[in-house]
Amino acid sequence: MLKNKKIIDTLTLEQKASLMSGKNTWESQDIPEVVPAIFMSDGPHGLRKQVGEADHLGLNASLPATCFPTAATLANSWDEALVYQVGTCIGEEAKALGVNVVLGPGLNIKRNPKCGRNFEYYSEDPYLAGKLAASSIKGIQANGTIASPKHFAANSQEYRRMASDSIVDERTLREIYTTNFEIAVKEGQPKSIMSSYNLLNGQYANENSYLLREILKEEWGFEGFVVSDWGGDNDHTAGVKNGSHLAMPTLSKNGTLELVEAVENGALDEAVLDQRVDELLSVIYMVESSGSEGEIDWQKHHEVAKKAAMESVVMLKNEAGILPLTPDKKVAVIGDFAQTPRYQGAGSSVVNAKNLETTLDVIGEYPLTITGFAKGYERGGQSDDQLVTEALALAEKSDVILLYAGLDEILESEGMDRSTLDMPKNQLALIQELAAVEKPIVVVLSAGSVVECSWENKVQGILHGYLGGEAGASAMLEVLCGNHNPSGKLNETYPLSYQDIPFGKEFPAKGRYVYYKEGLYVGYRYYDTAQKAVRYPFGYGLSYSRFQYSELQITESGVKAVITNIGDKAGAEIVQLYVGKPDSPLVRPAKELKGFTKVFLQPKESQTIEIAFDDKSFRYYDVNSKSWKTEAGEYTIMLASSAQDIRLEGKLLVSGTQPVMTAQLSKYQTAELEAVTLADFEELYGQKVPQEEVSGKRQLNRTSIIAEMSQAKNPLARLVCRIIGALLKRSEKKGKPDLNLLFISNMPFRAIAKMTNGMVSLAMVDEMLVMVNGHFFKGFAGLIKQFFHNRKLQKAK
Ligand code: BGC
Repeated sequence: MLKNKKIIDTLTLEQKASLMSGKNTWESQDIPEVVPAIFMSDGPHGLRKQVGEADHLGLNASLPATCFPTAATLANSWDEALVYQVGTCIGEEAKALGVNVVLGPGLNIKRNPKCGRNFEYYSEDPYLAGKLAASSIKGIQANGTIASPKHFAANSQEYRRMASDSIVDERTLREIYTTNFEIAVKEGQPKSIMSSYNLLNGQYANENSYLLREILKEEWGFEGFVVSDWGGDNDHTAGVKNGSHLAMPTLSKNGTLELVEAVENGALDEAVLDQRVDELLSVIYMVESSGSEGEIDWQKHHEVAKKAAMESVVMLKNEAGILPLTPDKKVAVIGDFAQTPRYQGAGSSVVNAKNLETTLDVIGEYPLTITGFAKGYERGGQSDDQLVTEALALAEKSDVILLYAGLDEILESEGMDRSTLDMPKNQLALIQELAAVEKPIVVVLSAGSVVECSWENKVQGILHGYLGGEAGASAMLEVLCGNHNPSGKLNETYPLSYQDIPFGKEFPAKGRYVYYKEGLYVGYRYYDTAQKAVRYPFGYGLSYSRFQYSELQITESGVKAVITNIGDKAGAEIVQLYVGKPDSPLVRPAKELKGFTKVFLQPKESQTIEIAFDDKSFRYYDVNSKSWKTEAGEYTIMLASSAQDIRLEGKLLVSGTQPVMTAQLSKYQTAELEAVTLADFEELYGQKVPQEEVSGKRQLNRTSIIAEMSQAKNPLARLVCRIIGALLKRSEKKGKPDLNLLFISNMPFRAIAKMTNGMVSLAMVDEMLVMVNGHFFKGFAGLIKQFFHNRKLQKAK
């Protein structure tokens, strides 16, 4: 039964079809007097409301808004209440700025630390990511604003992001790449969700009925609308048919006509269109009634941003108690980031920060004795001897070197994966030079994801602030001088070296298919099971205090333990619950995170903490019966301070069923991933995997990306492709990769029609492809014909 039947009955077929795509870059289509438009903005760590020229790459300016720490930062707080609070602030700003839908949070799984967008995502672990995303959604939606968690699903690389096919086995998909969304949807109850650009096992996420209807709607009870990622609509009819509601940005009249035709020729059942319209309208009417008034307390939001950054600082090293810094030590402040902070990532999430702090501006407010500032290095990696000399001179006359270092902006961006986990060469060289001065060094890291810390033994202290948002500078200083005791713990593993990452060499997949060959072994699930040493484990982070765990009690409903602060500083400890089943015949990681809590304790204080088991604690996805099952038997229950620091351990007998084994998967059993072949992966996948077409010149189609023109039959197309490649290289060399060009070269041909506001139709794209495929004049003539046809259509009422 349709909730909005009365209204829907008054709409024409064309009107209903028009609602399935946007009116422009940020608004949904309206129908005067009947259906209002809703306004969408990025997301996720603050608002990016554009009022001038619109773009979805974060290139053009937006209204000032509070820039909160990015998701990767916030996740280190493991603090659901805090993430909720940040969400409420974003919701308030949205309401005041007339934004109805916030495009976020982003909760994709960090499958590989080189994914350029990891700074925007919470974790390598689905439980942590799901819980934090749910809190963020609840916060954003608290005042009636809508959250649109993204990108659903299995979207873990930027290269070819609009046209890559994630080949993931069913169990991994359910346990890793959708469990995060399951928690977010069931607990957060978002009124919208954004489908991802990629295909999943051969079908675009945005037209994947398994994802959008079976799992999201039927299994999880999602009551909201699915919006495509910007330009992510592939086959509009298939999208609507299979569960997508809103293709963004506008598909103009072409989109409407496509659906009208589909209904008329029977490709789309009108009842299905009505259902989609009904589901969309149910949310749109909800928004309208929530109004759009409100005053923002910017100072309060800045304070929340600061608190969020402070709670998220992770202390990675503190040798001989070098930290916190005391006023009796003369401190040399070195590093460009102290002057020009690195506080957020690049791309669609860029916030025009309302009140950006820099370390140099605020350091005077802290009890530190500063000898001066030296820039030390230039952004972009080029060496500069003069800057190094100045830094060394400053270091010589100080007792401690406080070095602000990390990743430059260009190294972490939407649309582009990282080429290395290393910090820029000039910064690495500077650390070496400073170490030779033989004064203790404290490194303050700014980076939204993993950096290789092979220089760790050259320094005495490391504080990782990730990307701390507009108040990151003062938040870090509070920790540095001991006003705040750090309690952040890593949301991802820091391997010793990139070589240790399973199938790291294959990332990002260059061709159409991305084989998720490691299966369940993402992040710590792999290192723990394969017993591989890491630099900093998942869940790791130091404190100025120490915590003791005792009196573990395990019952059917959960665990209890006593945590005592045995240090002399008040502080918080994040206690993690892991569950393992060592004797299982199934492929099972050694341990998996199933709960966590954060406890704040005064010196010598003890508290009993409790973590309840839930429906995720013991389940696994059984591919034979296509359902969640609990394996009967004995489980290991671990309370831990990090994935590799198990403090208390016990056993629990759980009732359930015995798994039916169909495949042995012996290499997966023991996590011998180095030995896993494509054939092993096919055994896990349960069928042959699709293979890339052979190289050489070939026929391109609507789903081929522009960069594939390098293999086009038409030499002119190959030339265009070479020119784009050269321009891109040039921009990278200049230290500022051209995000627009990157987007274009990774974009499928059909997106030319989907992202040009009706100027180009799909029929025109087809004619362009005729040209690209070697029939230049035929295609050109067709293009002209289709151009006039499209113009007539666009002009017609
Ligand atoms: C990004 C989304 C973003 C959208 C709108 C896309 O390119 O993938 O995360 O919300 O643009 O800016």
